[in-house]
Amino acid sequence: MEEILFEEILSSYRGDRSELVPILQDVQANLGYLPEKAMLNIARFIGVPESHVYSVASFYAQFRLMPLGKKRVTICRGTACHIRGAPQILGEIEGIIGINEGETSEDLEYTLESVACIGCCALAPCLKINTDVHGEMTIEKVKELFPALEKGESDV
Ligand code: FES
Repeated sequence: MEEILFEEILSSYRGDRSELVPILQDVQANLGYLPEKAMLNIARFIGVPESHVYSVASFYAQFRLMPLGKKRVTICRGTACHIRGAPQILGEIEGIIGINEGETSEDLEYTLESVACIGCCALAPCLKINTDVHGEMTIEKVKELFPALEKGESDV
């Protein structure tokens, strides 16, 4: 399935090295991340060393070399959230789900990341789980929210 989709993506390009970033964007948009095998095939397709594809993919923050977890937890690190305790909330979540910011859990259950502003500053500190925003977060709310997710009791 992934192979067929990958072939389809490449069929719309000429195989020119200048197409590297658009191809990476296209593959990630369709597969959710850049699998190692895909980077190898892209390198062959545009005629550059695999190390070049890997260095471009790892240079740009937009590219993801690991698949996303089922629950994508996004912590706001904007000023309003920061001064109202976002760093402590991030630390608490890292402790509960066992991964650090920027990582995905081995079971692909969680991805933990941060953004400059979620856009709900009046509700600071905020976080998002997939597309759902949770505002006015406290350590107590985090403890309630994450065990609920583990048991599948939340609608997020
Ligand atoms: S600063 Fe956190 S939502 Fe804007």
